[in-house]
Amino acid sequence: MQSTAPDYIKHAGLLAWVAKVAELTQPDAIHWVDGSEQENALLLEQMVAAGTLTRLNPEKRPNSYAAFSDPSDVARVEDRTYVCAANKADAGPNNNWMDPDEMRGTLQGLFAGCMRGRTLYVIPFSMGPLGSPIAHVGIELTDSPYVVASMRIMTRMGRAVYDVLGENGDYVPCIHTVGAPLAAGEADKPWPCNPDTKYIVHFPETREIWSYGSGYGGNALLGKKCFALRIASTMGRDQGWLAEHMLILGVESPKGEKSYVAAAFPSACGKTNFAMLIPPAAYQGWKVTTVGDDIAWIKPGSDGKLYAINPENGYFGVAPGTSVKSNPNAMAMLQQNVIFTNVALTDDGDVWWEGMSKDVPAHLTDWQGQDWTPEIAKATGRKAAHPNSRFTVSATQCPSLDPAWNDAAGVPISAFIFGGRRSSTVPLVFEATGWSEGVYMAATMGSETTAAAMGAQGQTRRDPFAMLPFCGYHMGDYFNHWLKVGGELEQAPAIFCVNWFRVDENGRFLWPGFGENMRVLEWIVGRVQGTAKAEKSVLGWMPSYDDLDWSGLDEVSREQFTDLMKLDTEAWRKEVAAHGDWLAKLADRLPASLAEQRVRLSAVLEG
Ligand code: GTP
Ligand code: SPV
Ligand code: MN
Repeated sequence: MQSTAPDYIKHAGLLAWVAKVAELTQPDAIHWVDGSEQENALLLEQMVAAGTLTRLNPEKRPNSYAAFSDPSDVARVEDRTYVCAANKADAGPNNNWMDPDEMRGTLQGLFAGCMRGRTLYVIPFSMGPLGSPIAHVGIELTDSPYVVASMRIMTRMGRAVYDVLGENGDYVPCIHTVGAPLAAGEADKPWPCNPDTKYIVHFPETREIWSYGSGYGGNALLGKKCFALRIASTMGRDQGWLAEHMLILGVESPKGEKSYVAAAFPSACGKTNFAMLIPPAAYQGWKVTTVGDDIAWIKPGSDGKLYAINPENGYFGVAPGTSVKSNPNAMAMLQQNVIFTNVALTDDGDVWWEGMSKDVPAHLTDWQGQDWTPEIAKATGRKAAHPNSRFTVSATQCPSLDPAWNDAAGVPISAFIFGGRRSSTVPLVFEATGWSEGVYMAATMGSETTAAAMGAQGQTRRDPFAMLPFCGYHMGDYFNHWLKVGGELEQAPAIFCVNWFRVDENGRFLWPGFGENMRVLEWIVGRVQGTAKAEKSVLGWMPSYDDLDWSGLDEVSREQFTDLMKLDTEAWRKEVAAHGDWLAKLADRLPASLAEQRVRLSAVLEG
């Protein structure tokens, strides 16, 4: 086995750990990833030869590739994701739990020899700017070259990380395998994975991640949901900061006033789109800039405000629905240097997905390699691209990238926005009357499930703070943490709730969404600055029709706005009952103030 570590790695603990994992997993070789251009080019070439990647037509999509996963391996697997805290109660009812010793036993069995016939790649990466006091280092050991190439885009990855680590720096150890060892001479699959057995396991006390059996996204790129949310949320709880499933954007008015807001929407509910919003033509002089599209690490500053960084270095974004009309910034950044996963291929070697263009190509190769035509789609309902097909692209390619996106100090947050995908009940926008009222609204937020996770779609579930699948500890403790962090601030951000997804009786969206969300964003920023008007309702402060700027938009009539903002008392009684069922599950650690707010809200609705 070729295993000699490069001599620039001086960290004895790290070297010993890699040796131990190699002993357990039995790879054919160890590749110490340095992150260089040449190394990346070689890996991409190898993956093309192995059939893992298809090189796209360089004239259409330079330096870009498409990967196609095993049909069983297309999204996060929430039912196979575990938080193995020493005490079950600390993981909370929001996480799957197994006794850590028992889980370690299971993993030892699964990982024994799991990398036979494969190369073990050692990936050094930093979440956040390299060497910044808020950044944290991870080392991912993986047997997937697709993971290596993706981590190079999604994180600050490569040799320089070892300079930060030195001889004994802290890192989060992340171990990943596709869980498909090869017998001698056995040919590999283009997308190896284990279709039957998957484990995505977190040990919060030792800050370890072990991932088995999947090669896809949040299951395999361990810097993202596993580290930057599940492990980091427990670090934040212990150290007084927040790790959140939030985009961060800057908004600048024609007068040059700039604010930053952070917004939590569940998976596939609009973060990337909102983060890259282009204001409508009538919004002359307004500018929206992107700091991050999925994850925010947020810390109280010495001035009593909250500051946020995006710990990531790229976007792993939903392809379907992305078009020149809905998200022109994304379309511009996807012109080159992209890895697409599970999209469809055009006959001239480019990519396509549902919603990319009005004109649907007459023939495609779908994400499973089958012929696809509009006629076939009509007859069978088969999608050309998987609904959770994605692009992986560097943040620096985003035309709306905020100048401070890489700033180690982070950007000051003026408002938090929470939003779910709700076809009914929840109005377009409202503002909570205070921090704890906002925490209540975020804690009880519901959303319809999407293709970003395996399982049934379109079912309304509580997804507090858009963190249900990502909070690494008991959700009741998490609510307490939010109340505590906000309570200690001199200037707590205002909290808003939005819903872009309300539909009419024919199932059509009532709200045009995308760029038009600027109208709501302007009102939000105006509220923070004290210039926008609102009326008090049961839920909090709400704009009336005339409080929003409608210039250049005829699409939303007064009547339609009334429908968008409607508070149906009967529906809200049911909603608050659902809050009750959800909060009851957390009763042992639920902050008293949240339980009291529910009782109060319920009483108002009954009255
Ligand atoms: P994750 O990467 O899974 O965390 O998703 P996300 O929250 O970044 O969601 P994204 O912005 O990728 O949007 C998901 C889907 O929702 C896409 O198909 C979008 O086209 C669609 N979408 C986004 N914003 C809006 C909106 O304002 N209105 C409507 N109707 N659809 C939207
Ligand atoms: C999500 O599901 O929220 C994502 C995609 O952002 S994944 O990386 O798979 O978690
Ligand atoms: Mn996400």
